[in-house]
Formats: sequence, structure tokens, C-alpha cells
Amino acid sequence: MSHQKTLYIAAKAVMKNAHAPYSNYHVGAAVLADDGLVYVGTNVENASYPEGWCAETSAIAAMVAAGAKRIAEVCVVTKSNPPGTPCGGCRQRLSEFAGADTPVHVSNLDGVSHTWRMDELLPGAFKLKDLK
Ligand code: THU
Repeated sequence: MSHQKTLYIAAKAVMKNAHAPYSNYHVGAAVLADDGLVYVGTNVENASYPEGWCAETSAIAAMVAAGAKRIAEVCVVTKSNPPGTPCGGCRQRLSEFAGADTPVHVSNLDGVSHTWRMDELLPGAFKLKDLK
């Protein structure tokens, strides 16, 4: 099975666990890390609205907590048509651990998919090198 398919299945499954009672917009994210494992996350909303966070952020946190530091491939699943793309903040967070050519697949439940390169989603990303 392709990495894309594996990530899609994982993101779609975890999307069901999203805590999104305010927006009712459920998001699932799966990242393939350089340790060969897939880490997943959902959006987690809060009654104090600004305290919620995105699915991609949850998946990145799970990856980092497990000790992995590089993202090889990403899939984000939403119900949107066309599929929703990562928000600006998540583009920056993904970019911290991804390469310019890392594929970021966005998919919906109807099987519609589009694949972006990380540097298409966030051209001219602010990186560690910029702090030197
Ligand atoms: N959301 C994500 O999980 N990822 C994104 O990249 C965009 C937005 C979530 C945040 C909020 O829980 C809901 O989608 C509506 O904005």
C-alpha cells in the first residue's frame, strides 16, 4: 500500500475522534515520520474558542513526544469539497519538521485528493536558518 493510502486511512479514522462541537468541522491529520511510524491527531476545540487547536498540530505533537523530528509525508482529511488545506499556523508548524518537497496530501471523504509540496503551501518559510 502507498504511504498516501496508509496516511489517508489513518487520518480518516482519527477524524472521527475530533472534538469539534463548536465548528462541527472535523479534521484528521496523519504524518509519516522518519522513524517509519505514522502519528495522528485531530482538532481539539474549547468552550473558550481561541484555546482550541488544529489536527495537524496534534499530530505533530504526538510525533515529537515520541522522539521523531522529521516529517516525510502528510495527509489531512476533512469533509470539504475541495478538501481543506492546512491553516497558516499549521503550515508554519509542518514546515519546522518537513522539507521543501515534502508531499502534503489533502483529501475528503469522497476520495477527492490534491497533493501540495510543502514549499507551495508556505513559500519562503521562516526556518532555523533565519535565526542565525
Ligand atoms: N482546523 C484544523 O484542524 N486544521 C486546519 O488546518 C484548519 C482548521 C480546525 C480548527 C477548528 O477546530 C476547525 O478546523 C474550524 O476552523
